[in-house]
Amino acid sequence: MRTQTVPAIRARKASEGGDPLVMVTAYDAPGARQAHAAGVDMILVGDSLAMVVLGYDDTLQVTVDDIAHHTAAVHRGLRASSAEGPAPLVVGDLPWMSYHTSPDEAVRNAATLIRAGAQAVKLEGGRKRLPVVEAIIDAEIPVMAHLGLTPQSVHAMGGFKVQGRKHDAALALRDEAKALVAAGCFAVVLEGVPDEVARLVTAAVDVPTIGIGAGRDTDGQVLVYHDVLGIEDRMAPKFVRRYADVGAASVEGLRAFASDVRARRFPSDAESYHLSADVSESLSLYGAPVAG
Ligand code: KIV
Repeated sequence: MRTQTVPAIRARKASEGGDPLVMVTAYDAPGARQAHAAGVDMILVGDSLAMVVLGYDDTLQVTVDDIAHHTAAVHRGLRASSAEGPAPLVVGDLPWMSYHTSPDEAVRNAATLIRAGAQAVKLEGGRKRLPVVEAIIDAEIPVMAHLGLTPQSVHAMGGFKVQGRKHDAALALRDEAKALVAAGCFAVVLEGVPDEVARLVTAAVDVPTIGIGAGRDTDGQVLVYHDVLGIEDRMAPKFVRRYADVGAASVEGLRAFASDVRARRFPSDAESYHLSADVSESLSLYGAPVAG
């Protein structure tokens, strides 16, 4: 399987003239195949899994095993994909408490995601995560950083709030990004920051920044699969643009199925299996009506 690689992604700095990078989340084999067919550059098996697939209110509920389970499904989907072009790079999201207790445990958890099929891992937070970032990179596992509105800090932040609005906070974000890149991160997700701050950070680092709610000038954009396709029907943040209404199309399809079943229009004769005439005839002796 030909795939995008970490060095190729690292070199794609859109602000130096390249095309912006496209990342989307995916959590299963069909989603992964669709992302490949659509030509996206990276799939993030995000901890947003908790909210958009598993029905939780925040991302704190998923475990390494959950992310590994879905990473493996994404990996199998890409292996079976017949789409042309390199398969997207698969980034596994390290969930809350998988890298907060010790660098050793973080490395072990990152390795679990790599063994499940990820080519890199993502983790949230700035300078205080440097020892963990260094340990994971030292184990030859590429790390994508995630700064700004970091959903795993929802309680510490007092909600899902835009970050870096004040002068000092904006400069601190820039400095955190520089420190993470100096430690070896190959890309930085910037979530929920004013576009001026995203520009400041993007200009300060020589690896791609991938924005979500971070304005137009990052080196790439990421959105959650269920938001892009209109499957998630809870209130969407203002940075979400819906490109399809798969949720409504699904309800419509299921309603038509239910209606056909109730009216006995489904299944049709052509959608049924049949016995040969002689077996059918012989069964009629036992009360099975011959030919429907
Ligand atoms: O889990 C996720 O979907 C993410 C993106 C929002 C960047 O971390």
